[in-house]
Amino acid sequence: QISGMTLQTFLVFCAAFLLANVLLKRSRNLPPYPAGCVPVLGHFLALGRAPPLKLAAWRRQYGDVFTVRLGMEDVVVLNGYTAIKDALVDRSELFASRPQVYFLDLITGNGKDMAAVRWGPGFRQRKRFAYTVLKNLGMKVGRGSMEGHIREEANCLCSRMAEYKGQPFDFAHDVTVTFANVICSMLFGKRYDYGDETFQELKKAIDAVVIGLAAGQVISVFPFLRFVPGGLVFSLHHVLWEEISRHREHLDRKNPRDFLDFCLLEVDQQDKVEGLTEENVMYMAMNLILAGTETTAGTLLWALLYITQNPAIQQKVHEELDAVIGVSLPTLSHRPQLPYVNACLLETMRIRTVVPFALPHATTQDVKVREFHIPKGTQVILNLYSLHVDPTYWPDPERFDPERFLDAEGNIINKPESFMPFGGGRRVCLGEKLARMELFLFFSTLLQSFTFRTPEGTPPPNTDYVLGLTWSPRPFQVCATPR
Ligand code: HEM
Repeated sequence: QISGMTLQTFLVFCAAFLLANVLLKRSRNLPPYPAGCVPVLGHFLALGRAPPLKLAAWRRQYGDVFTVRLGMEDVVVLNGYTAIKDALVDRSELFASRPQVYFLDLITGNGKDMAAVRWGPGFRQRKRFAYTVLKNLGMKVGRGSMEGHIREEANCLCSRMAEYKGQPFDFAHDVTVTFANVICSMLFGKRYDYGDETFQELKKAIDAVVIGLAAGQVISVFPFLRFVPGGLVFSLHHVLWEEISRHREHLDRKNPRDFLDFCLLEVDQQDKVEGLTEENVMYMAMNLILAGTETTAGTLLWALLYITQNPAIQQKVHEELDAVIGVSLPTLSHRPQLPYVNACLLETMRIRTVVPFALPHATTQDVKVREFHIPKGTQVILNLYSLHVDPTYWPDPERFDPERFLDAEGNIINKPESFMPFGGGRRVCLGEKLARMELFLFFSTLLQSFTFRTPEGTPPPNTDYVLGLTWSPRPFQVCATPR
């Protein structure tokens, strides 16, 4: 408690902290530091307000592998296809742990979840189990199926857009509710109306965690910020605990309805995940809400932004939808027949990588990268954004051009190089399949039903981004005219 200290003790403490920081040498043979590293803050100030752009500039100057100092910690940054593929795919297990990040540990009970947990059997079992549950839920058929939930939400979103009667509106809120509804239906069988007060509370709870996570790096640079009260970040935990007890009360062992039911059965049976507790279940559910709402909502918003900005591309999407589907509504079975629609979504994920630096990784043992020795436990940032704007693979990378993802016959190019919006290897995104399914169904249903255009007399929407936990567009207005 700083207030209880004498000024003298406080000054001695600060001097010791500064000295330790100045004296703490970069571990031997780590990749080079870019210029601009200062005591205490490291490269924090040098990274500036647009870290992706700064990292791109450093890549040009220092190559694909360099070290950035964040406060007291050395973080190795990998850029470009060769270095990232090596770490994420070819030697995945060596880079598959998570570092100690104060805020991440705080809200996940020190890795009792799936996304922040360190590499080991606990991680592998929980992730495998979560995959199986998602697969089981995905295989359900009929109204309660995953596709059924998404199509129902797509219809609700279309009705909501029709209510604006072609007038300008900012649909970020509606899109967020839509994606949160898919995750909440899957997790605990609940959906919310667009103006629902409980949803506002849930959204506040999610935002508090998101802001906290985005501020996490600042907190690790300024450790005294840990004493700032942050009770709000735990309100998401309370919401989830309530759902878990509601599910406990109504659990039907023969007929699990959603993610929480499957997990509670596993807590009782201890069949696939050794020692799984209700606490683990709460943190895993939190992972899905946090990872599965902002990412998908941000991607759909970017797609609609670029489509509005490029009427000729929008017209091609309309033509393909009309030719393949006609007047009915899109289903997943149409997906292989709509290469241009798919290419628009891939190009959106390339040009605006919503998770530009993946989640922070850590080495599981001492690793050699090029001529450098990286000790076990070092934090590693994988700059996925650098893959997607590399002019060697993507000429004129700032141009939105879906054709990049089509071959000469107009078919989607399978597994293009230098493209990993969901990461890869052991820590690949758990929700990739679900996200691709949602994006296809929402995007094609909206474009089947509406023409999007910039409001009269205003310039086209701006492609500047807001970098928080994910990379999302600045608020923008569009008009949606029924077709
Ligand atoms: C991790 C991207 C949607 C759940 C990740 C990572 C990326 C990513 C880049 C980090 C991989 C790494 O650390 O190397 C995306 C994108 C999405 C999306 C671009 C949508 C467009 C979702 C959805 C869910 C989800 C819908 C859940 C249903 C997760 C989880 C992890 C993760 C649990 C942690 C995996 C682990 O630590 O092993 N995602 N994601 N994501 N994502 Fe996603």
